[in-house]
This record gives sequence, C-alpha cells and structure tokens, in this order.
Amino acid sequence: MPSCRRAVVPSAVPRSAFLGGGVITDTGYVTDIDYPDYFHSQMSPLLLSSLCRLAGFDAVRPEPGFTYLELGAGAGMTTAVLAAANPEGRFVGTDFNPRHIAAGTQMIRAAGLTNASFLECGFADLAEGKVALPAFDYVALSGVYSWVDAEQREHVLTILDRHVKPGGVVYINYNAMPGWAVSAPLQRLILEYSEALDGGVLHRLSATREWVDRLVHADGRFFSSHEAALRPRLDSFGQWADGYVAHEFINRGWQALFHTDVARAVAGAGLEFAGSVSPVRPLRRTPEQRKLFEGITDRALREVVADFLDDTQFREDVYVRQPRRLSPRERGEWCDEVGLCLTERRGAMHLHTVSSRLLNPLLDALEQRPMTFTEIAQVPAFSGLSMAAVVAFGERLTAEGWTSPYLRSAQANSAEPAWRLNRVLAERAQTAAPQSAHYALASPVISSGVPLNFIQAQVYLALTGDDPGLGADTVERVLARLHDCDIQVEISGNAVKRSSEVTRAEAVDILHAIRDSRVPVWRRLRVLAGE
Ligand SMILES: C[S@@+](CC[C@H](N)C(=O)[O-])C[C@H]1O[C@@H](n2cnc3c(N)ncnc32)[C@H](O)[C@@H]1O
Repeated sequence: MPSCRRAVVPSAVPRSAFLGGGVITDTGYVTDIDYPDYFHSQMSPLLLSSLCRLAGFDAVRPEPGFTYLELGAGAGMTTAVLAAANPEGRFVGTDFNPRHIAAGTQMIRAAGLTNASFLECGFADLAEGKVALPAFDYVALSGVYSWVDAEQREHVLTILDRHVKPGGVVYINYNAMPGWAVSAPLQRLILEYSEALDGGVLHRLSATREWVDRLVHADGRFFSSHEAALRPRLDSFGQWADGYVAHEFINRGWQALFHTDVARAVAGAGLEFAGSVSPVRPLRRTPEQRKLFEGITDRALREVVADFLDDTQFREDVYVRQPRRLSPRERGEWCDEVGLCLTERRGAMHLHTVSSRLLNPLLDALEQRPMTFTEIAQVPAFSGLSMAAVVAFGERLTAEGWTSPYLRSAQANSAEPAWRLNRVLAERAQTAAPQSAHYALASPVISSGVPLNFIQAQVYLALTGDDPGLGADTVERVLARLHDCDIQVEISGNAVKRSSEVTRAEAVDILHAIRDSRVPVWRRLRVLAGE
C-alpha cells in the first residue's frame, strides 16, 4: 500500500501550546505522557465481520488482501498483533503522537512485518484529505471517540465518510451514558484541578491523586452520597498506570455519550448499527424488562433503554456501511465458514452464566479441534436449538474470553509472522510494569491475539529460546522480576502471596504451572511452533 508511506503526510504533528501546566496539544488531548501498550481482541477483523454477518448484514470478510485502518492507534500493539495474525491483510495505524508512532514502527520492524505501517498524522489532516489513503474494509478506533473534543469527533466522522468501503465495518468504543452519569463530574474535577497546577504531567497527576484523596476523606457530600458508583472510578484513578489514567481523565474534550447520539452521528457516513461486542447484556431479561421494549421499534432507542437497564458505562459498537441484508442461505454459508476455537484451558473456566448441559459437550468437542457453527449445531446436546441460539451461545463464550472466532479458510495462513512478533512482544512484556500493559501473543488460528502477562512472557521466551527446560537462568530472572514488583501472585494450591516474598522453589512451581497450562493452549493456537 504505497500511498500509506509516512512521506505523504504533510504537517504531521499538530502545534503544541502551553495551556495550564503541562504540554497539551491544541486539540486539548494529552500528549506529554504515552498511552500504555494495549491489545484489544475486540478489534479483530474476523470477530467484527463475524458479528455483523451473524447478525444478518452483508459485511466485508477478512479475505486475502483486505485492508484495515486503526485511528489513534496508540503505541500500535493492536495493529501489530492483528497484522501478524492476519498475514493476508494489510494494516495501517495512525496517531498524532510521534512517540506512539515510533514505538509501533519499531515493533513491526523488529518482527519483520511487511503488511503493517504506522502514519504520524492527526485526525484533522486525514479529514482534510492531506494524507493519501484509500478506502478500507475495516476502520477501528478505540479509546478515541469520547476522549477527544467535538471538533476532533467531527474529523473522525469525515474520515469514516471518506475511508470506509461499502460493506466495510467500523468498530468504535466510547464511555457511555447513563453509566457515567454519576462519575462524569469526577473526571471534570480531576481535569480542572490538574490543569491549574504547574509542572509536568506526572507531577500534576500525583498531586491531583493526593488532593482527590483528601477531598474524599473530608466528608465531601458528593462522595458520600454516591459512594458505590464512585468507588471503582476513584480506585482506577488512584491505582492504575499513569499513562492510562492521564489519557482517561485529563483530556479537555472528554465526554460520555449516549448510543443514540453516536448512532445518529455515524449514520451521516452511511453507517448502520450491527451490534455490540462487549458482554454488557445479561443473557435473559426479566418479563418486566422485556415488556419495556414492546412497541419501541427504533433500534437506537432500544439500545439506550438497555443501557439504562444495565447501567452501561462503556460501549463497543460495530457498524456496517450501506449494508445489504444476507439471505438465509448466505447466513448458513457463513456458519459453514466460521466457528469457535477454545482459547483457554478448560480447568480455568468458571462459567456460571451458561448452561453446563450445553457447555460441557461443546468443550469436549472444541478440545479436539476448532469447529464451525454448522459443526457445533450437530453436537448432540445442541440438537433442536436454532442456529441463532447456537451462535448466541458461542458469542457469549467469546465475550467471556474462553473462545475466539475461527475462520476455516484462514487456517492455511503462515504462522511465521506471528512467531516473529511474539518473540518481540514477549521481550517487551517481560520487563513491562505488570499493572500498566495488556500484552498479547498473535495467533494465526484465531486471526487475533491472546493475553500474555510478564511471567508467561518469560516462559514463552525460554521455550522459544535456549532454555526449553526452564533452567536456573530463567528461574533467577523470574525471581528477580517478582521481587522487583510488589504484586499479589498465585502460588501452588491457589494460595496468594506478595511477589516480593516468593521463594526460589515457589518460583519454579509457578513457572512449571504456567508451562503446563499455557503450552497446550499456545500450541492449539499456533502462537508457539510445535505439533
Ligand atoms: C486513549 S488512547 C487509545 C490508544 C489505543 N487506541 C488503545 O485503545 O489502546 C487515544 C489515542 O488517540 C490519539 N489521538 C488523540 N487525539 C488525536 C488526534 N487528534 N489525531 C490523532 N490521534 C489522536 C492519542 O495520541 C492516543 O494514542
């Protein structure tokens, strides 16, 4: 995709201005602290196409040569993992923060990925057509739409109008109303207080954290009246990684949005709501709740009613551009193509929300191999269920993180790019602060990634490097890291201990437990070479 080279991007970096204390761009978005590495499996092109097509929309499929654009890609981990897991697709990640673009570019170069590139440019540049980009099959934006101001949201809409193909799929997440109704004022307070301070963002953040803590403990009526709703927000503001907290709380344009507003805004770009990714919905509504939907034909209003029933705080919407409806025959053909792959060890599953009468036989079958939905419908326990019910059951397992969509025709794809990137990611993950990043390993089987924590990263490196037996060097490295970061870790027998107190023998147990539980999953997903 030659038109996506950085050379074609004019005036890439917006002017910076000193506003209040730290450096904030003229878009009001924080840039003097980087966003942590974060992989979002919900943005997988297969998952997005699958959701739309199973909902009956003729959305694009991840066929060889498909194109994918991520707007505001941060440090690029999602784009990189998806590119490695989909070697037949072509990926572009954009961001206006030059350090993010440098990090993403360094990652894909180190892994030798030739089907991904990163562009340093702002939304305004793209909206004004200053960057020569084609129309894409997929456009995804995470952590952007409700974090930037109204002007930038307008630019995003222009980009969607210009750069999504007919039948193309858009993923867009945002902080939602009414779930933020009580805690939105907290974001404003944090923003106002931190902007009034002098100094760099880290200093202002830490001073604001201390001050908010004092405010809470000074018997502020707002805090005592809304304790239950505010507690999770106060905890995340106080404890989560600086980069995450700064990007969440101290952007001037930040706004929690109603689904109706987002759906109406993107409708201007010909985008129709296909469904939501996140597991926000309970499996069954009470009869009283079901009655509430009677007579409401407007799809967007139904979603908002559901958001009130569920107190939704965060939405992950999927839209299709000018979609045709699939015929029943075409839906059936898609169910012959797409299905589920198990992404977790069976013993680790605690699924209380789904029927074990269906779950156990399905897991028995999926432990043998990934299966299409048509094949799953033929498992005896599923006989008599409609295909819609089979699919809904599978989507629930995926939303809970136990399975992932699997595309039969993608199984011939090379695993080499994933293996190269996985080494790079494991190198980075092993030294990353455990609370700050969400790393992943790329899997060509599910065309997506699976989570990777910093100790698992050590095991991955040892197994794919020169210590498949997890010998003394690996144990020493893990022990040093555990002693270095003070977190809670699970040791044998499900006991929990402070990582700084873990003994050498316990570290060996931890490593062996990870190897025994992860290796079968990693091999099934081909994130690790092997039979
Ligand atoms: C909250 S972070 C999310 C990063 C990544 N998408 C993720 O979810 O992990 C938002 C990203 O949008 C980028 N961004 C914000 N305003 C932008 C603009 N006007 N143009 C381009 N990128 C922007 C920021 O630099 C940042 O990397």
